[in-house]
Amino acid sequence: MVASAPGKIIITGEHFVVHGSFAVAAAINKRARVSVSETDQSRSLIYSKNFQKSFLSSNDGRFFALKTVASKVFAEFGKPRTPVLIKVDSEIPLGSGLGSSAAVSVAAAGALTRFLGNEVDKDKLLEIASEGEKKVHGNPSGIDTETSLNGGVLLFNKKSGSKSIPLTSAIKMIAVFSGIKRDTGKLVKKVALKRKESPYFFSSLVDSSSFTSLEVADALSNGDLPYLGSLMSASQCALAWIGASTVKLDELIETALENQDCFGAKLTGAGGGGSIIALPKPEKAELLLERISKKYRDSFIVSIPQEGLTFG
Ligand code: MEV
Repeated sequence: MVASAPGKIIITGEHFVVHGSFAVAAAINKRARVSVSETDQSRSLIYSKNFQKSFLSSNDGRFFALKTVASKVFAEFGKPRTPVLIKVDSEIPLGSGLGSSAAVSVAAAGALTRFLGNEVDKDKLLEIASEGEKKVHGNPSGIDTETSLNGGVLLFNKKSGSKSIPLTSAIKMIAVFSGIKRDTGKLVKKVALKRKESPYFFSSLVDSSSFTSLEVADALSNGDLPYLGSLMSASQCALAWIGASTVKLDELIETALENQDCFGAKLTGAGGGGSIIALPKPEKAELLLERISKKYRDSFIVSIPQEGLTFG
């Protein structure tokens, strides 16, 4: 049984979404694949190129989210009759802020559920995959798992859930990984401290992030790229104020914007490392990628929309 789920970019509203804001996220063309098969080993095990192997029952600190997902699936649907081999193969750079752990959790929840002969109920899968995310990030809003599961481009809010944003045509962005792994849980805590320090201003930024995200949803569905880019750049200022940006991320943004072939750029995801996204003028996307990737190897074109969880 093989399942695959996409990574994500957050276009606007990261961090503020944890505190009730609307946010916009999109599934990307980098995916995590999880396969489940019977094995003649004496115990169930997980294998990936990054972490090598680990027994499903061991507490060695590896595959933390995946082990949580597996135990939730087994609690829901019963344990497999024979030991299983769970293989993880992900194209999403680890710690890049591009939703690697959510994609693995979603793909694993899907593959294990089907392997045990059950139909995939989206709400149940979301609940199971979110447990994996909670283990890794502490207090996630749920936007990463929701985007990976459903795919497409989503307007998301913790309370009201997600709504798909239709695009008139595909949109290309450039993602650049700083090479510095970020820790979402730590960043979310740091932002909560900032909120304590300046509760009133923080709260006004949560509102402003909601208005920005609603405008971003409109700009996306109208294909208004100049407006979309300027909203992205403006939201970078609020993210910098809450301490999510870094000197390195600012440098990446500056590099993306320097030849004026972009409408805007910002960090994406938790920040503190991780990645930025830049919105190029459509005819300049390849050129921009060529220019950026001379300096930063881990750069690629993100093409949205993309499919969510798939099987086979
Ligand atoms: C992480 O991809 C996005 C954050 O807003 C955390 C969350 O929403 O769970 C930083």
